[in-house]
Amino acid sequence: MHMHKFEKIWLIFGIGALVVFLSVVGVSAFYLGNKPPSCLTTIDPKKVDTEAPFDKPGLNKVEGKEWDYELVYVASAFLYNPGEVEVPLGAKVKVIATTKDVVHGFQVAGTNINMMLEPGYVNEIVTTFDKEGEYLVVCNEYCGTGHHLMSSKIKVVK
Ligand code: CUA
Repeated sequence: MHMHKFEKIWLIFGIGALVVFLSVVGVSAFYLGNKPPSCLTTIDPKKVDTEAPFDKPGLNKVEGKEWDYELVYVASAFLYNPGEVEVPLGAKVKVIATTKDVVHGFQVAGTNINMMLEPGYVNEIVTTFDKEGEYLVVCNEYCGTGHHLMSSKIKVVK
């Protein structure tokens, strides 16, 4: 079979690129241990109150992690625990949240924080509040008759 020179070059380039991409994915997955973000943390919704970190909702200072604080929320119909919290300005905070009953939302107005809290799953986001003020946390998933009353407040203070 006769192949044009350019066709051969193109074929080699194509196979070469495939080998490179598969190597990158392989090294990343098996050597560096990277996983897609779909590997979720799960929790038994009935045991939320007794399991760490949800047994201590609120702002907790942590040491030796990439973030300075963990801000733990437990959502349930129709409130968030804590209902109000103070966060130091500029601190790196990992927000960790779950729900005890039905699906709730967790949107912090005026920021890009917007999570869906599903029973049985833990949702997390690392963020820095670098503007002073009060932030409203609202539920943006319809969760029942008290849905519109469900909110919490984050006060970012100096
Ligand atoms: Cu909780 Cu809507």
